[in-house]
Amino acid sequence: MDVSKVADQITKVLVTEEQIKARVAELAAEIDAAYAGKELLLVGVLKGAVMFMADLSRAMQIPTQVDWMAVSSYGSGTVSSGVVRILKDLDADVLGRHVLIVEDIVDSGLTLSWLAHNLTNRGAVSVKVVALLRKPEAAKVDVNVEWIGFDLPNEFVVGYGLDYNENYRSLTSVAVLSPKVYS
Ligand code: IMP
Repeated sequence: MDVSKVADQITKVLVTEEQIKARVAELAAEIDAAYAGKELLLVGVLKGAVMFMADLSRAMQIPTQVDWMAVSSYGSGTVSSGVVRILKDLDADVLGRHVLIVEDIVDSGLTLSWLAHNLTNRGAVSVKVVALLRKPEAAKVDVNVEWIGFDLPNEFVVGYGLDYNENYRSLTSVAVLSPKVYS
């Protein structure tokens, strides 16, 4: 859906559809080069990373497998709870495999930090992260995010997979949600 359809509910567009497409192509090429000759399992974090995974995996030119995890993060609010719970686990066994976690956004980094440790403890050979978006808080966390699409200001955003109360995921761009929607 085009952002113009919900213009009254957003304050500004931060990343356009064209910018996402161009950056995803760059990330795909860098990741292809980094894993050349290796077998790679892409682990997407539901539901926010669905759009990013779909575009990134198709832009990549090395063979990959795709699997998904769902973990709890924000519930229905806009503040991180710090509590991580597996809602849906991987189908694949990561033992002995190279794993790339595909994340929509890193905010506090709590979710990612927990996930990276969890997959490492299951015996993955390597666990790296690509995140489309990063907020300023994430810089403080001890998680190695190898590839970042865009750095954002500290505002609540929706679109391209990201939601507020399950709405706005289908927007083609990333936009700041108007505070009047959640206050
Ligand atoms: P963290 O644990 O604080 O890094 O939060 C990560 C998760 O919270 C992301 O995977 C998103 O699902 C969600 N999240 C964080 N910031 C936003 C936002 O601005 N809009 C929508 N979801 C967000």
